[in-house]
Amino acid sequence: MPSITQSRVADRFAIRGDLLDFTGAPEWGATESSAVRYLPDHWLLIENGVIVGTQASGVPLDSTWTKHHNPGCWVMPGFIDTHVHSPQLDVIASYGSELLDWLNTYTFPAERRYADPEQSRLGAARFLDALLAHGTTSAVVFPTVHKVSADDLFAAAAERGMRLIAGKVLMDRNAPDGLRDDVAQAERDCIDLIDKWHSKHRLAYAVTVRFAPTSTRAQLAMAGALCAAYPGTYMQTHVAENRAEVQWVRELFPTARSYLDVYAQAGLLNPRSVLAHGIWLDDADRAVLQSSGAQIAHSPSSNLFLGSGLFDWRAAEAAGVAVSVGSDVGGGTSLSMQRTLADAYKLQAMAGQRLTAWKALHAATLGAAQALGLAHEIGSFSVGCLGDVCVWDKAVGPVALRRQEVAEMKNSGAVVSNLHEQVFAWMTLSDERNLRACFVAGVAV
Ligand code: GUN
Ligand code: ZN
Repeated sequence: MPSITQSRVADRFAIRGDLLDFTGAPEWGATESSAVRYLPDHWLLIENGVIVGTQASGVPLDSTWTKHHNPGCWVMPGFIDTHVHSPQLDVIASYGSELLDWLNTYTFPAERRYADPEQSRLGAARFLDALLAHGTTSAVVFPTVHKVSADDLFAAAAERGMRLIAGKVLMDRNAPDGLRDDVAQAERDCIDLIDKWHSKHRLAYAVTVRFAPTSTRAQLAMAGALCAAYPGTYMQTHVAENRAEVQWVRELFPTARSYLDVYAQAGLLNPRSVLAHGIWLDDADRAVLQSSGAQIAHSPSSNLFLGSGLFDWRAAEAAGVAVSVGSDVGGGTSLSMQRTLADAYKLQAMAGQRLTAWKALHAATLGAAQALGLAHEIGSFSVGCLGDVCVWDKAVGPVALRRQEVAEMKNSGAVVSNLHEQVFAWMTLSDERNLRACFVAGVAV
């Protein structure tokens, strides 16, 4: 349960607006979908931080309910960002390089600062407040190699009552001084952090292998053993993001069939494994992902910014692999999930596919929750989920206002097919400036 003291939570809290969430997975390419649950001008009812139902606004609510009115706003589940790096706010929007050069030039120097506990503590708070300010209430996060960076991130998430999955980054080679651990110390640090934070508040530990090039075989084996020894922990890493990286992994692990196979051999693939990118995978890799239950955190903004490539979302889905969406800041250029989804649309268009708003928003809410095994808690307005809720203005600024006006004219029949036009334009034109209110377990943040 969230750590927020109950005194801050109104026992009965109702949010009024145009409620939009999902009850299932939308079909690829379908702008009309029975998986969309759209309840215009309804109340979302939250008791003691938990969603207890919805109600048409025409039915009066008695005075035991504290009411939050948002006429003409979208009310949606808080977004879930399944791949993001907390220390990389410091290097977001850094010019001019592909992955490996970008890591050495910008990212590693920034992450070294987190050896300093003061920097680590301030950075964790800054990062989580920024997530909430963008409407992201849950995230799967890489801090740094330093134990203190994970400890501070968990403490800051507990303070805010947020659902967070994170772990100390493992890297014992091919990284500069001040950013390497060793197998024995890393194992002790992970166990300490698991004991302290895993399954406490709304937190879960993720065994966090940065990527195959920065871990020795011994460290990968230790990470796999931790996943087996602590059931319920997650695993997060990067895979097959960039062609030079894939070639490097081939040289470092010459006996592995593929990059993904390095992780499979180390026992790192299970239904709670979240692998970022997966651009340069083949059919055999996708079959391994499917059979292990491991999932891909597609990170379109980062893939475009670093010039990494075009992720084949449809092929992953056709193979039965779950796909959620990550901002991958600082490779990605915004914490806004709408901006990330708008980039996903453009990236898929480059790959000859069209991503509906339904598919995109589902991947950032219920789809991610299901892939993480957390659909009972986050990602939708189903009864029993916690009240992680965002209220969004439909338009900010004259261009978006005009676009919504035109979409609403067509939408006067309140048909879901027209609703798609409105929501797609919102997804493409909106960002954190549209966020009117954000609630974590029913508490305004
Ligand atoms: N691969 C290994 N580390 C990183 C990282 O920090 N960002 C991205 N995008 N890819 C990585
Ligand atoms: Zn990343």
